[in-house]
Amino acid sequence: MADKRTAEILKGARAEIARAESSADLEQVRVKYLGRQGILTRLLRSLPALPAAERPEIGRQANLAKAEIETLLAGRLADVKAAERHRDLAARRPDLTLPGRRPTGGTLHPLTLVLDEIVEIFLGLGFAVAEGPEVESDFYNFEALNIPKDHPARDMQDTFYLSEDTLLRTHTSPVQIRTMKAQPPPVRIICPGKVYRRDADITHSPMFHQVEGLAVDRNISMGDLKGTLELFARELFGPATEIRFRPSFFPFTEPSAEMDVRCVACGGEGCRLCKQSGWLEILGSGMVHPRVLQMVGYDPEEVTGWAFGMGVERIAMLKYGIDDIRLFFDNDLRFLSQFSAS
Ligand code: DAH
Repeated sequence: MADKRTAEILKGARAEIARAESSADLEQVRVKYLGRQGILTRLLRSLPALPAAERPEIGRQANLAKAEIETLLAGRLADVKAAERHRDLAARRPDLTLPGRRPTGGTLHPLTLVLDEIVEIFLGLGFAVAEGPEVESDFYNFEALNIPKDHPARDMQDTFYLSEDTLLRTHTSPVQIRTMKAQPPPVRIICPGKVYRRDADITHSPMFHQVEGLAVDRNISMGDLKGTLELFARELFGPATEIRFRPSFFPFTEPSAEMDVRCVACGGEGCRLCKQSGWLEILGSGMVHPRVLQMVGYDPEEVTGWAFGMGVERIAMLKYGIDDIRLFFDNDLRFLSQFSAS
C-alpha cells in the first residue's frame, strides 16, 4: 500500500521539476524537497517516531521517492542547461549582415616612394646602385674627399663622432671613394642611403637620406653632368621643368655647381616657398676634383668625372608640398596614408 504522504510529495516534486525552466528554479525545488529543512528530509527524519509496523514500508517508499526526485532533478538540470547554452549562443550569434571592417592596408612611405623614383630614373640611364656603411671612418667621409682635418669645410657638416676616427657619415659621398677604390674606371653609380648631422628644425633632421651620383670615364665633361641632371629633373618634376646651375663650392669637386629647378609652387613668379626667387635649390654637383681621383688611384690625366648629391627629404617636401620635415618621422597614419605608389 502506497503511503499517501510520500505519494503527495512525489507528485508535487514531479510537477515542479517539469515546470522548472532554469537551473535556479531547479535549485529551489531541490531545497524545497531535499534540503536540510526539505519536505522529504523532514519525513525521513520523522521515521523513528512512527509505529514500528509502518516504519519499514514508509521508510522504503520515502527513500525511493528521494532517489526518484534526485534522478528527475539531474535529468531536468541537464535539459535546462542545454537550453540555457542554446539561448546564450543565439543571443551572441554574429550578425552577418553587418558591414565588414576593412583591414587598413599599408602604403609605402613617401620617402621610399621618392627614393625609388630617383633610383629608377638613374637605373634607366645605365647607372648601378652602390651602398656603403653608415658608420664611417674619418678618412672616407672627409680626408679622401679632399677635406683635411683643419679644413674649414668640416664646419659645413656638424658631425656625430663615435670616436676620434669613426663617425656617422655626414653624406653619401664616401661611397664614391669606396667604389672607386674597389674598381677601375669607368664608373656609373648612384648611392642612396641614410646620413647623419647634428641639426634639427623644420627643414633639418639629425638623420636624413641622400642620393649620391658619380660618373667617371674618359672624356666626361660638365656637359654630360648638365644633360643627365636636366633629364633627371624633367622625369621627376615634369617634362617642362627648367633648371639652372649656379657656381658653388665643394672641396671634392672643381668646378662646383648647385642646381636649381623652377619653383614647383609658383612656376617662377616668386612665392614663399622659393623666397621670391622663382628657383629651388635641389642638389650640389661638380667635376670630381683631380686630387680625389688621385687619392683612389685613378689617373686624372686619363679620366675625368662628375658627381652630385641631393637630399631625398628636401625633394619629397618640394614634390608633395610638405612644409615640416618631422612629418616624415612622426609615423602619423593620417599623414602617411596620403601617399600611394600610383
Ligand atoms: N656631399 C654634399 C653634401 O652632403 C653634396 C654633394 C655636393 C655631393 C657635390 C657631390 C657633389 O657628389 O659633387 O652636402
